[in-house]
Amino acid sequence: MDIRSLKLAYFSPTGTTAAIVEAIAEGLGYDVAEDADITMPQARQEPLHASADELLVVAVPVYGGRIPLLLEPWLRSLQLDGTPVVCVVVFGNRAFEDALIELADIVTGQGGVVLGGAAFIGEHSFSSDKYPVAVARPDADDLRGAEDFGRKVRQALDALADIDEAPKPAIPGDRPYKERTPRGPVDFISVGEECVLCGVCAEQCPVGAIDEADFKSTDPEKCIMCCACIKVCPEHARSAKSGSPVEGFAKWLNGNCAERKEPAYFL
Ligand SMILES: Cc1cc2nc3c(=O)[nH]c(=O)nc-3n(C[C@H](O)[C@H](O)[C@H](O)COP(=O)(O)O)c2cc1C
Repeated sequence: MDIRSLKLAYFSPTGTTAAIVEAIAEGLGYDVAEDADITMPQARQEPLHASADELLVVAVPVYGGRIPLLLEPWLRSLQLDGTPVVCVVVFGNRAFEDALIELADIVTGQGGVVLGGAAFIGEHSFSSDKYPVAVARPDADDLRGAEDFGRKVRQALDALADIDEAPKPAIPGDRPYKERTPRGPVDFISVGEECVLCGVCAEQCPVGAIDEADFKSTDPEKCIMCCACIKVCPEHARSAKSGSPVEGFAKWLNGNCAERKEPAYFL
């Protein structure tokens, strides 16, 4: 099949999903016509459309075994028209559960044809010096795997005469999807003395939860616990409050999800 160009769409508050997408795109080797990083709110105002002779790679982190809830409206605004799509999720070495099938279902509902899927591992958003989880992943092996996956998708597309002939990938997951964990406002960010009020945290917050007039204040109603502000702080002034549920979960993950998991591919 002739693919005119590649479109990329990804949400990546702490950068692991973006790194995987970049490696997959490298392996695919098509010209990139659109690089839709939908991490920031303004980018989620722009709808994306793709035609039957373009390939779309759509990638999101796993939140609670599902796709991040805040992405649903944008994903459901995708305008696809028999567009071949590769669905990718990135999880923090616990489990990806129903996230990949949920993403594939949404994309199919928007007119895409899911050619393949993959689940990669990224450093857990809650990972800290005290409770490290999947630190520095994706690593070189993961990125090689992502590039190889891109090459395999390219080979599969090159061998296809028509999208209708594409074999359906066996994407794992249950329907109905895992229930989302109900949660109220989360107030878990601690800001230490090191804070110099540079505002990098507010610039990088995907939901505008950090007060522009007082960078030390985070709106618990808006916060999605992505931990981007903690990871980007140049002064290492931000952390999960001691005794907070996020710190508790990091401790649990550190104890229970220490064994290295490997990426999974569905083609
Ligand atoms: C609110 C929240 C929920 C998460 N839930 C899961 C999960 O269910 N399973 C898992 O393995 N990782 C989970 N993670 C970890 C992220 O999926 C993982 O760290 C991912 O690499 C983050 O992607 P990013 O770097 O693109 O932001 C969660 C992270 C957050 C912030």
